[in-house]
Amino acid sequence: MFTDKVVLITGASSGIGAACALHFAKCSATLSLVGRNLDNLTKIGTQCEKLSHLKPLLIVADLTSESDIEKIVTETVSKYNKIDILINNAGINCVSGTIASAEAYDRVMATNLRGTYLLTTQVTPYLVKSKGNIVNISSILSNKPLPIMTPYCMSKAAIDMLTKCTALQLGPKGVRVNAVNPGPVKTELFRRAGMSYADCDKMFVVIEMNSPLKKIIKGEDVAELVMFLASDKASCINGSCYVIDCGLMLGDAGNL
Ligand SMILES: NC(=O)c1ccc[n+]([C@@H]2O[C@H](COP(=O)([O-])OP(=O)(O)OC[C@H]3O[C@@H](n4cnc5c(N)ncnc54)[C@H](OP(=O)(O)O)[C@@H]3O)[C@@H](O)[C@H]2O)c1
Repeated sequence: MFTDKVVLITGASSGIGAACALHFAKCSATLSLVGRNLDNLTKIGTQCEKLSHLKPLLIVADLTSESDIEKIVTETVSKYNKIDILINNAGINCVSGTIASAEAYDRVMATNLRGTYLLTTQVTPYLVKSKGNIVNISSILSNKPLPIMTPYCMSKAAIDMLTKCTALQLGPKGVRVNAVNPGPVKTELFRRAGMSYADCDKMFVVIEMNSPLKKIIKGEDVAELVMFLASDKASCINGSCYVIDCGLMLGDAGNL
């Protein structure tokens, strides 16, 4: 389905981004994988190569750096001459009992929003040439306030709006833009945001109990949806934000 398609994935060294990389590799995509941790990026790159027999381009880059963002685009285009699909996945969270500090706010916004915005801007001319598409990884928290993660919720609400504005702007040029809004997935995100292993485990037990389907989504489930939106099967879908959360956002069913 993705033979000869160049797919650029940020945050491919861990969690949902790594799951996306492996899924696209299974479908023979040509991959450009971005992350900060070279060891993890190399591990995922090797697994992708086993699946597709194509060696992915690995780019160590920090999305908070404008020169790194330029490097992502330059290295991808010099190697492959084009970009067909951009998966804006890299992101961080911050968990705080009080109103988050300005430093935490800046850190979350710099990666989740500014980095995504700037990379999108730089990749857009290549997507216009290839009539490609973008999938942004947002969150159910774009639409559900959670005060212990205020900057994160704000950043994801902005990602939904970025999705809609760019979809409207680029649609006439043949470029689709959509978002996937996952519920909680067991990745490194919450631990890196300051939660302990024990608290993460407890949180996921409660989430599973409250989920109408009594289960938690996995990175692979998100990757399936991302691949669908990035494929020609979704050729009429533009500017949509797709929730994938086992029904968690529906709330409880009361005493029915
Ligand atoms: N896990 C969830 O419950 C959940 C739910 C909804 C949405 N999401 C979203 O899914 C996306 C992926 O998160 P995840 O859960 O897979 O978390 P994760 O396991 O922590 O992975 C985050 C990825 O983003 C990369 N990254 C972070 N900051 C970066 C920066 N400044 N520059 C470049 N790369 C950076 C990390 O790279 P390194 O590891 O190499 O540093 C890593 O590959 C995020 O946008 C997150 O908001 C997650």
